[in-house]
Amino acid sequence: NNSPVITIDGPSGSGKGTIAFRLAQKLEWPILDSGAIYRVLGLAAHQAGIASTNINELVKLARDLPLTFVTEQSSDEVVAYLDGEPVGDAIRTDEAGQRASEVAVIPEVRSALLARQRDFQQPPGLIADGRDMGTVVFPDADAKIFLTASAETRAERRFNQLKQKGISASLCALLESIKERDERDRTRTVAPLVPAAGAFVVDSSTLSIDEVFSQVYEYSMKKL
Ligand code: C5P
Repeated sequence: NNSPVITIDGPSGSGKGTIAFRLAQKLEWPILDSGAIYRVLGLAAHQAGIASTNINELVKLARDLPLTFVTEQSSDEVVAYLDGEPVGDAIRTDEAGQRASEVAVIPEVRSALLARQRDFQQPPGLIADGRDMGTVVFPDADAKIFLTASAETRAERRFNQLKQKGISASLCALLESIKERDERDRTRTVAPLVPAAGAFVVDSSTLSIDEVFSQVYEYSMKKL
């Protein structure tokens, strides 16, 4: 499979989602929102009453979840469908993010999701958004981007995002939660959050979205 792939990895609130969408619009490529897979899995496990220690059941769920995604240009978001029904904002809450990172530490769950994620590599190309897109899932990607920003900046962005959706949150609690989730994502033994070798690293703390996008776009065009 030679279809081009651009990977965008980084911590929560680094602006990955927004940049992935801008690229998707410009190139007319779909997005793999891998975080949404972990979020849906965490939610489905919770609803089915499967504990995070029950690895066999979690792996089964990871392999068999009837999950599909649509990149909706109008909504600025990848919409997840479970069994043909839109999952909605239930996966976008902070609690869902925490649940996602709890199932994401399990190596067996990650490997069960590997093939599913690689299936997204199709013509004309793919923008893959996550934590390990450039390191593990698409190590041969044409362009690899790693976005970061200070924890404070990221908490503020998350706060505003949630507010826009009408989901209430406390900035202070979000900052704590972001730090906790980062710590878990960075220190796990399998596929920890680190920039891929040779990745183009952008710290967006003091940059506007337009500035980040133009740097990322220029880099990507050189690589494709
Ligand atoms: O990107 P998002 O915040 O939606 O991801 C939710 C959680 O899913 C992350 O905190 C991380 O634990 C997990 N995740 C992952 N690998 C990915 C994408 C997300 O472990 N490629």
